[in-house]
Amino acid sequence: MKVKKVCVLGAGAMGSGIAQVCATAGYEVWVRDIKQEFLDRGKAAIEKNLQKAVSKGKMTEEKAKEILSRIHFTLDMEEAVKDADLVIEAVPEIMDLKKQVFAEVQKYAKPECIFASNTSGLSITELGNATDRPEKFLGLHFFNPPPVMALVEVIKGEKTSDETIKFGVEFVKSLGKVPVVVKKDVAGFIVNRILVPYLVLAIDDVEKGVATKEEIDATMMYKYGFPMGPIELSDFVGLDILYHASQQWDIVPQSKLLEEKFKANELGMKTGKGFYDWS
Ligand code: CAA
Repeated sequence: MKVKKVCVLGAGAMGSGIAQVCATAGYEVWVRDIKQEFLDRGKAAIEKNLQKAVSKGKMTEEKAKEILSRIHFTLDMEEAVKDADLVIEAVPEIMDLKKQVFAEVQKYAKPECIFASNTSGLSITELGNATDRPEKFLGLHFFNPPPVMALVEVIKGEKTSDETIKFGVEFVKSLGKVPVVVKKDVAGFIVNRILVPYLVLAIDDVEKGVATKEEIDATMMYKYGFPMGPIELSDFVGLDILYHASQQWDIVPQSKLLEEKFKANELGMKTGKGFYDWS
């Protein structure tokens, strides 16, 4: 299937980043969110990224304008979904919310439209089964920041057809990214099944006073060569995402400190404060 219009649901760090990647690859993109301020913030993030590339001489001003002109921002679900060939959902990591969103999407989507979720690890099978097209439903899991991270997990739910997986692989390649097919729909897929327990265990180390957050980060960065230590990466990924994972996936340890941070709305870089101060 030839993709012309991509609809991205959610203008947060992931949604706006995915929209930028798709528009850079030449697709027309509609980004939909529920509040104008979320759309404005997403648009500003994309503009900043493109401007940075221009100022570094990696992109011309014209190219940046052209990419931006392919991204349309709207509050209207019908406008966003109508005629889309692919819908990529990037709303908060709450199963019921995602199901509600897809229930609305399918009112306006054409029958051949492929549905994808950027979930960090919720069941693709369960999400797909809640729609009218489980065979055309797959996971397309990008990593933060989407414009930089090369990997995209392409996840098969129990009823996802081979044709849909093939479509996902080709689409990811068309973005200049590297697809990896996840054949079994386990919580967290390949990456987050390993990464999220690691991050929450590092948070548990902070809570238990095993070492300071700076020491824990330095250990993993300088000894293991990771670009960010686990506490900084937790702030970068978003403590809400880790908290929701700890509530919904049985492989993630519970953490009182993580819960406290979540309830205090100290979610990391996105709110200016998490374990570190980002303001
Ligand atoms: N958006 C777009 N581009 C960004 C960016 C952002 N938020 N942050 C950095 N960049 C770009 C920079 O512009 C720069 O681009 P050029 O090479 O073209 O100049 C490049 O990334 C490197 O950035 P910096 O030199 O500023 O900084 P850095 O070398 O420290 O790299 C980083 C920053 C790429 C974020 C790096 O620290 C890193 O790789 N961190 C780990 C990120 C990671 O593990 N992500 C996965 C998280 S897990 C996840 O997302 C899954 C989930 O479901 C929870």
